[in-house]
Amino acid sequence: MSDSIFVDNTATLDEQYILLVKQIKNLLEKKDNLITNLSNFTAALKQTFNKISWVGFYLFDGSKLYLGPFQGKVACTQIKIGSGVCGTAAQKLETIIVPDVDKFPGHIACDVESRSEIVVPIIKQDKLFGVLDLDSTDYNSFNETDKKYLEELVDYLSKEII
Ligand code: SME
Repeated sequence: MSDSIFVDNTATLDEQYILLVKQIKNLLEKKDNLITNLSNFTAALKQTFNKISWVGFYLFDGSKLYLGPFQGKVACTQIKIGSGVCGTAAQKLETIIVPDVDKFPGHIACDVESRSEIVVPIIKQDKLFGVLDLDSTDYNSFNETDKKYLEELVDYLSKEII
């Protein structure tokens, strides 16, 4: 494994993600502990994108989501299925992009400075495993390009790592 993440801030968003996907695939190892892999995954994302104020996992225990490995400020420890952006993405099993969190009914403000968000559900063997949540202190920080590559990364996680 490599122990550092190379970031090219002059590259396009697509190019940055292509580089990140490659590096994450080198960094994570199936034989490592789940917490180890999820932790480094969040660090790699946070190191790559300045627009991310918080990135982390909420994992499903069979009835609710609970806080997993993350990078950023302390956060809510439990989220009900159907609540907030995370709970809604977990319920619908689809990615949700929120350009302005104040316009999302029921948004859970873990960090009052958060302005936009993207949540990607993680499905393993047809069952909900959890969600990946990214926050930003700017409006409109996440778009279809983020969705495409974050879904690719989560797909890699569920098929190869978790
Ligand atoms: N805003 C999320 C809660 C988690 S924090 O952003 C870390 C939500 O509405 O589900």
